[in-house]
Amino acid sequence: MKAEVKPDKQKIKSILARYQSDPGMLVPILQDVQAEYNYLPREALVLVGQGLEVPLSQVYSVASFFKAFSLKPRGRHLINVCLGTACHVRGAGRVIDEIKRELGIRSGETTEDLKYTLETVNCVGACALGPIVVIDGNYSGQMTGSKVKPLLESYK
Ligand code: FES
Repeated sequence: MKAEVKPDKQKIKSILARYQSDPGMLVPILQDVQAEYNYLPREALVLVGQGLEVPLSQVYSVASFFKAFSLKPRGRHLINVCLGTACHVRGAGRVIDEIKRELGIRSGETTEDLKYTLETVNCVGACALGPIVVIDGNYSGQMTGSKVKPLLESYK
């Protein structure tokens, strides 16, 4: 994945100031950085480490310990395609193929414009309505390949 965000130094500084550059507040600081960029850009981690006078290795170990943090670019919209058995037998494979084709990315990747991230899940508990696609927490059921484009367009 090539898309990388260049963080704004001032923005990182103001996040650090919000917590008086307290190294004990590393987790909430990283949460704020992620809220800003949808993930933790490498350069932002360097700036946070410098600002808190904490070794970069320590910043990284916290950033990679918590599952809620992402070190890879994430799009503004998170698309989750259910590939669980019930959705699979109802054609989820065709749905995800169409999404990949439309966006030009594979599962686990983010579009260059940082608009969409594509992921898969193994059941979201709505099997009877499968195939299911969840975008930003909103469920779309009985998906077909031809419904993909209009659905994505509604999240532009
Ligand atoms: S298998 Fe897709 S919702 Fe259960």
